Amino acid sequence: MSNKIPEWALEVTQALLKTILEKDPFTFHHCCRVGRTARRLGKSMGLSDFQQDVLEFSGLFHDIGKVGVPDDILFKPGRLSKEEMDVIKLHPEKSVAILKPLMSQPFFRFLIPGIRFHHERIDGSGYPLGLKGHEIPLTARVVAIVDAVDAMMNTRPYRQGLTMDVVKQELIDFSNKQFDANLVEIYLQSLPKWAPVDDETKDETIVPLVLKAA
Ligand SMILES: [Fe+2]
Repeated sequence: MSNKIPEWALEVTQALLKTILEKDPFTFHHCCRVGRTARRLGKSMGLSDFQQDVLEFSGLFHDIGKVGVPDDILFKPGRLSKEEMDVIKLHPEKSVAILKPLMSQPFFRFLIPGIRFHHERIDGSGYPLGLKGHEIPLTARVVAIVDAVDAMMNTRPYRQGLTMDVVKQELIDFSNKQFDANLVEIYLQSLPKWAPVDDETKDETIVPLVLKAA
C-alpha cells in the first residue's frame, strides 16, 4: 500500500473545501491558515515531506464539519449555552464523517487523528475523548497549537483579536495544560523565520490550490 497522495485528492479537496466556503467564509480561510501553519511547524519539527503533507491537509479539513452546525449556533454573536456548546463540540467528528467515503485511501486515513483530536488538551480537559499527553496523536497536538493561535489572533463579532505578544504568552502559560510544551517551544523559535501566514511558500501542496479555486 502506498502512502502517496492519490492524483484525484487535490480536486476532491478543492471541492470539499468549497462547501465550508459557501457556509462560512471565515472558517474556510481559518482552515487554509491552519493547514499552512501546521505544515510549517511540521517542517520545523524535522518531519518528512509526507508528514508535512498530512499536517497541511489535516489542518485544512479540521473544521470542515462546521458545515453541519446549525447557523443559529455557528453564527451566534454572544456566549453559547452548554447545550449549544455540546453541538459545536460535535464538529471534529462531523469533519471525520465527511471524509469517511475516502477511507479506502491510506492518505486520507492518515488525516483522521489530527482532525478528530484537534480539541484535545494535554491535561485531559479537551474533547471528544479527554485524551491526555502523548495519548493525543502528534498531528493533533500540532493542529491544536496553530488552530488556537489563529483563533486568538482574529477579531470576531464577540471579541477583539489578541496581539502576537499576548498570544505568545498564552502559549507559554498553557504549555503542559492545553498545549504540548515541546511543540510550543519549536513554534516560538520558528515564528520569526516564517513568512506572513497569507504568503504561500514553495513547499505547500494544497492550500494555494484551494485558495485559487475559491
Ligand atoms: Fe475546531
